[in-house]
Amino acid sequence: MKKYSGRKVFVAVFISGRGSNLKSLINFSKKKISPIKIDIVFSNNKNAIGLKFAKEKKIKIVHLKEKNFYNLEKKLVKILNKRKIGLICLAGFMKILSNNFIKKFNGKIINIHPSLLPKYKGLNTHRRVIENKEDYTGCTVHFVNSKLDSGKIIFQKKIKIFKKDNEKTLAQRVLLEEHKIYPKAIMKILS
Ligand code: GRF
Repeated sequence: MKKYSGRKVFVAVFISGRGSNLKSLINFSKKKISPIKIDIVFSNNKNAIGLKFAKEKKIKIVHLKEKNFYNLEKKLVKILNKRKIGLICLAGFMKILSNNFIKKFNGKIINIHPSLLPKYKGLNTHRRVIENKEDYTGCTVHFVNSKLDSGKIIFQKKIKIFKKDNEKTLAQRVLLEEHKIYPKAIMKILS
């Protein structure tokens, strides 16, 4: 594949836990074709396992510990602007951002969600698709707007649900696809 020739877009990744999507984004960012550089990782949870990947790769980490949401976002905006962040990738970030914050970074915040949006917004998607005996599920990368999991879809992958699937097996299969589509969605909007 050919080398990305433009100036790399500085990316901030927001996480709260495991961070497997963060890891896949870091790996992607190191490839020659990648249009991004992961500049900083924010976590509202200082024990998030995902932080260890960022540490290993010497990426700056910021723990969002302010209780007051207004102060927290004020601090965030300051850092993001100072570091010239061009794209914010939410990856398992369990806090809802304010409309004010979303407006400030309009069109620059994207999220990954483990369902075929617009179906199954919110939490526990795998449990609900199995309960509803769906034939297919999937994962989606979308722009973030003021409504939960409702922004414009950038990239989706559809996955067949087998009879023998349970919440765990399905979550594992969907996650593998998530790791592939997040980089693809970024390529789609940036290159
Ligand atoms: C993923 O399933 C993602 O779609 C959802 O939260 C989960 C985060 O997993 N928003 P990880 O922390 O990236 O491993």
